[in-house]
Amino acid sequence: MVTWAPLWSYAAVVPLPKKTPAELVRQRFRDVARDVRDRVRARVFGPRSAFREGDLVPVSFQGKKSGEVVFGTTILAAARELKVDLDHFCGGHCSCGTCRVFVVSGAEHLSPVQMNEEITLGAEAAKRGHRLACQAKAQGPVEVQIPDYFLAR
Ligand code: FES
Repeated sequence: MVTWAPLWSYAAVVPLPKKTPAELVRQRFRDVARDVRDRVRARVFGPRSAFREGDLVPVSFQGKKSGEVVFGTTILAAARELKVDLDHFCGGHCSCGTCRVFVVSGAEHLSPVQMNEEITLGAEAAKRGHRLACQAKAQGPVEVQIPDYFLAR
């Protein structure tokens, strides 16, 4: 005859792993250090995007199409993926400026403007919210508009 002991009796026999005071102090120190690091990062770089590498981020071409692309994909690659016509005469080498788009929303979720992009685009256009689709990488939800005069025919 098999008798089953109640579950609580096993708990009394098998001790649960306990943390030593030194381990608890170390863990608390790690938690506080992580919290401080996150606060400093938020102060210096602004609030972090909820998206990370490997995530899918929504990209929308206003009045055309929208879809999701992998974090870090350029707007030009996203356009090609979503079958949106977007000129790119230099093949994405940042020298023609024909891939210019206007960022409607989510500019903070694009990779920062690099010097070569600013030279091709012009500092004024960069300030007005224009980006080169071949250089701007989506790191969060972005909505862009293709200027009419640059629409592929
Ligand atoms: S494709 Fe020529 S600058 Fe972007």
